[in-house]
Amino acid sequence: MLYDNHGRQLRYLRLGVTDRCNLRCFYCMPEDGLNFSHRSQILSFEEMERLTRILAEMGINKVRITGGEPFVRKNIMELIENISTIDGINSVNITTNGTSLIEHLPKLKAIGIDAINLSLDCLDRERFLKITRRDEFDQVMDSFHALMDSGITTKINMVVMEEHNIEDIIPMCELTLQHKVSVRFIEEMPFNGGGKKFTPITWNARQILAHIQGHYPNVEKLPDPESSTSLNYQLPNAKGSFGIIPAYTRTICHSCDRIRLTPKGELKTCLYDGGSFSFRDFMRAGATDEEIRNQFRTLFNNRAKDGFEAQQKSSNPFESMATIGG
Ligand code: 5AD
Ligand code: SF4
Repeated sequence: MLYDNHGRQLRYLRLGVTDRCNLRCFYCMPEDGLNFSHRSQILSFEEMERLTRILAEMGINKVRITGGEPFVRKNIMELIENISTIDGINSVNITTNGTSLIEHLPKLKAIGIDAINLSLDCLDRERFLKITRRDEFDQVMDSFHALMDSGITTKINMVVMEEHNIEDIIPMCELTLQHKVSVRFIEEMPFNGGGKKFTPITWNARQILAHIQGHYPNVEKLPDPESSTSLNYQLPNAKGSFGIIPAYTRTICHSCDRIRLTPKGELKTCLYDGGSFSFRDFMRAGATDEEIRNQFRTLFNNRAKDGFEAQQKSSNPFESMATIGG
């Protein structure tokens, strides 16, 4: 089993499968994109599967496929299917921007994907274009409705940003009245790849909740699952629910069970750390499974206690979420 130096057991792997994306969300990357990695710099499917298998042997039971945008990586369904058959992995989830999801839904359903998180920051076409710099709102909404019809557990990730989508908070809550969806309001973090200056947020978790309670005073608190990063609520008589993720104010670090592997195979023991060790280079230099296991142990034995401590040590505090693996 894999534990860190603060007694937290690691159970959940977030696997970034590409740093590329067909959108350009301004809070994630600059308008002209990033200096995207060459194919050879990115882990192969075999390398990803090997690391996942080793981690599964160490007690990791949940995997999230993320990016960049996972579905821009060629043959990604092959990887998703293989990951879902690894012994010990009993939950496979995907985070996607939903622009090309529909064609994959039947297969994802057949594989038995546990949940899909759709990144959708507003419910308005114009605002979507301003935020993502691409005119793909209709495709994403079609994906949302297809997801609702498919019965696959669905969450919406909405990054909350002053002057961009505050007017969408209440409509997003109201979406949960008719649909069995969990909307997650996420505090904006500085991970924009240097695309814009990051000013410490005013729309933090407390303010988001107060705003919602201003419209719906009877919001009910739901129990938060163990190791959950969200504080969960429900509007009275809603089919779905909503959660607030204090991603920037970081009040949830004490129960963090996450391992991040970036598309290039770097380990991050925290979203806010600079990326400490290249498992890609280690594997390509011939490391054995045993050496890889020991290396995971060593690195987690030196894990920051929270995102503030990790950030202090980071050499790249404005890295893009697409290279971190959202
Ligand atoms: N702050 C908060 N969330 C972000 N995401 C991407 N960049 C940021 C940021 N700077 C979210 C996306 C997506 C997930 C992968 O991470 O909205 O849902
Ligand atoms: Fe692409 Fe997601 Fe980054 Fe938007 S947040 S540019 S959808 S990787």
